[in-house]
Amino acid sequence: MNFDYSEEQLMIKKTARDYAQRELFKDVIERDTNAIYPVHHIKNITELGFFGMLISPEYGGVGLDNISYALALEEISKVDSSVAVIMSVHNSLTGYGIETFGTKEQKEKYLPLLASGEKIGAFLLSEPEAGSDASFQKTTAIDKGDHYILNGIKNWITSANTGGVYLVIAQTWPDKLHKGINAFIVDRNSAGITLGPHEDKMGMRSSDTHSVMFTDVIVPKENRIGEDCFGFKLAMKLLEGGRIGISAQALGIAGGAYELALKYAKERKTFGTEIINHQAVAFKLAEMAAQIESARLLVHKAAWLKDNHQPYGTASAIAKLVATDVAMKVTTEAVQIHGGYGYVKDYHVERLMREAKLTQIYEGTSEIQKLIISRAISKE
Ligand code: CAA
Repeated sequence: MNFDYSEEQLMIKKTARDYAQRELFKDVIERDTNAIYPVHHIKNITELGFFGMLISPEYGGVGLDNISYALALEEISKVDSSVAVIMSVHNSLTGYGIETFGTKEQKEKYLPLLASGEKIGAFLLSEPEAGSDASFQKTTAIDKGDHYILNGIKNWITSANTGGVYLVIAQTWPDKLHKGINAFIVDRNSAGITLGPHEDKMGMRSSDTHSVMFTDVIVPKENRIGEDCFGFKLAMKLLEGGRIGISAQALGIAGGAYELALKYAKERKTFGTEIINHQAVAFKLAEMAAQIESARLLVHKAAWLKDNHQPYGTASAIAKLVATDVAMKVTTEAVQIHGGYGYVKDYHVERLMREAKLTQIYEGTSEIQKLIISRAISKE
């Protein structure tokens, strides 16, 4: 086993860290408070190559490995998970989906736009009645020969408004249940697409989240990804990789809260000494450090398996389950270490705690990760 990072991986981590600590940190509270979309940060980050991280150079991407990707997401999430989730959905789900399952024409048409950040990717699977039970798709994609007609509603869509390239999952043959589902690339500006209001979220408030309504939206046949009826398996495959991104994000949220708590504990004095000298605080920090390091090993193992073309679905579910719980525990303790200051916005840790909560819900709740893991171990 080799626990060293390559020069390139360390350089990516440093680039992400420098940008996050220097630039994202400056206005993150304002963006969170007022739910302001991080438009100039997204532009800057695309210029750093972070929106084409997993896309091959032949399509204009950087073609990096998944460990580099996880390191970049971790550093960005230490400061701003709204930016990280936009980046994660774009790379892990839309970009990777088109690169892995798309035709040559689809790749040539869409990947350069995604790699350059000219278009942001969105992934439209969830519906009002199909969250955890993802195969219960009510959005229909009726086959009309040379095109499909889409009707239905998608929920909780990251980058619904700002995204340009939608990867949409919909039901073509309802009698076949999950075996009748398809996946499509849909232009966000297609006639018949309307959005619900911006969701007023507890955390990650500056990412753009809406429901999306499809009313007789015409999608050319050549925009279907994969064979007829491959859509559900495609979504499941993509979520295996998406969960590496979200677990790296959770790791970053935990790490950000830990770094702030450690700094605070070394500065804040009570009873005549810095609070890190009180065992009650020092032991909390020790546990936080241990939990983060354990989660990092799981996240990087899942990323390594993906990089080495080995099955990674169970590993990514384990990484997500553990890292998102660690994010919740560590951010809660970081608030506790800060005392009253932790409960106000200026100290950042309350925001990180709100952000941590969402990682236990999206891209498969913790309960869904347990279902995936339990099904896998029952087959061992
Ligand atoms: N890879 C390939 N195929 C898979 C698969 C995988 N990982 N998982 C399941 N399948 C296949 C099965 O083999 C099966 O195929 P056959 O019918 O040919 O045998 C088929 O799919 C159905 O599988 P299941 O019976 O296991 O399906 P299920 O209905 O029990 O659901 C589930 C499985 C894991 C619970 C799934 O519904 C799920 O992942 N739910 C959570 C959904 C989710 O994560 N949503 C996230 C939304 S996106 C998001 O949040 C993005 C964002 O904006 C941040």
